[in-house]
Amino acid sequence: MWWEDAVVYEVYPRSFADTDGDGIGDLNGIRAKLPYLAGLGADAIWLTPFYPSPLADGGYDVSDYCGVDPRLGTLADFDALVQEAAGHGIRVLVDIVPNHCSIEHPLFQAALAAGPGSQERDRFIFRDGDGDLPPNNWPSVFGGRAWTQVGDGQWYLHLFDSSQPDWNWRHPDVPAFFADVLRFWLDRGVAGLRVDVANAMFKDPELPDLPPDTPQYGPSPFNHRAELHELFPSWRAILASYPADGFPGPRTAIGEVWYDGPQTLLPYLAPDGLPQVFNFQLLQVPWQARALRDAIDGTLALAGGSRAPWVIGNHDVVRPVTRFGGAEAARTAALLQLALPGSAYLYQGEELGLPEVTDLPDGARQDPTFHRTHGAVPGRDGCRIPLPWSADAPITPSWLPQPAGWGQYSVAAQSGDPGSFLTLYRAALRLRGELPALGAGTLRWLDSPADSLIFAREPGFVFAANLGQAPILLPAYTGVLLSTGPLPGDGTLPPGTAVWLAGGPDLL
Ligand code: NOJ
Repeated sequence: MWWEDAVVYEVYPRSFADTDGDGIGDLNGIRAKLPYLAGLGADAIWLTPFYPSPLADGGYDVSDYCGVDPRLGTLADFDALVQEAAGHGIRVLVDIVPNHCSIEHPLFQAALAAGPGSQERDRFIFRDGDGDLPPNNWPSVFGGRAWTQVGDGQWYLHLFDSSQPDWNWRHPDVPAFFADVLRFWLDRGVAGLRVDVANAMFKDPELPDLPPDTPQYGPSPFNHRAELHELFPSWRAILASYPADGFPGPRTAIGEVWYDGPQTLLPYLAPDGLPQVFNFQLLQVPWQARALRDAIDGTLALAGGSRAPWVIGNHDVVRPVTRFGGAEAARTAALLQLALPGSAYLYQGEELGLPEVTDLPDGARQDPTFHRTHGAVPGRDGCRIPLPWSADAPITPSWLPQPAGWGQYSVAAQSGDPGSFLTLYRAALRLRGELPALGAGTLRWLDSPADSLIFAREPGFVFAANLGQAPILLPAYTGVLLSTGPLPGDGTLPPGTAVWLAGGPDLL
């Protein structure tokens, strides 16, 4: 199936491309850049939320699940985008946000109006408090408590911002509502769904306190509940009800699941579960050969990269250049990610080597995490700065300011530069499409010095990376396919360099 080895490019629409000059990217901007995405070699794009929203959490506070935010375009623009993307052989995935909506959603407004004890309230998680205290001790992921009190004294649960009330998945209206949302977008031709917060939709009905020291990503009264695995087969059946032949082919859904270890992930990999679950292991390890290898092996032992695609960045984490400690490391990470078996998700701007912007003025910050922690946690704005397309960046207006000097990272500046990130990514994706050894399949580690990673993909493809301080000897090879930096040509790999090789006969 196409999704088993697809390269999926994550588009954060407000920060991708702005065609109407209001400083906010729009759907027509994505349409305009389809040739760029096709030239890069993306098989599919995942659009983070573009729905009507008060934008308290970058659109993950949805007030209408079946519309387009007028600042980003119209449904007609969306349909045109899906159709034009298909013309480039690019599939479109949309983001489904089933854990919570926006306080502006009509059903939450109806719940507020209907008052305690009503059916309307029961679609959300309203409870009486304990005196002046909330019903339990659950924290919000964004800081502070997970409960907010309304005028009549009841409290509602929000695992994220207070503007994002959690749905009650035990009320029959909620699964029925979301089944319709899934069909709404699948009927419009989308190839798949990214499922936000897929691990936390069901809560323990007793809402017990969170025991002290519960691991953040481990099972808890609101994480990884067994009821999820009764729901997801029904979503899989919805996906399977769409034709598997032709374009876009078999539909997929990929769950955003943060987990603490293999036992927690396993139930999500049931044959009738969501087709895919993100593999966030490479986001959580230090830039160190042993740790990377363990993270890779851990995933492969469980799932393989087809069901658990590789990720080195997204709109929620520090950009790879900054997290891995520099451009050299990020270039190596790119070749590593794209050489691993299975599917890979790229986040816009990784192909440009954009660094995290760490010095945004407080007044410019938008992430609720920053505000809810009173600035203690800087938040995720630094990885969401609008992309620089032209060498005269920074552009204004821009909903988050581009730093001075960003023109150097622009698509225009990097195109045609043999040493640029963009040239490296373009070459890697082109080779990935051409080489039968890449994509889905297996991996075999080859002996290599500490501080290095060397593996073979059958037949005849070798990945090698030197994370250490001294040159290492490469295995016998017949040709260099791609490298992150210059090679001396004496069979060694310099420090800070990664390479794709056509393997010698002993490696086949
Ligand atoms: C995960 C999304 O990726 C993130 O951006 C968002 O803030 C939370 N879920 C809540 O929807």
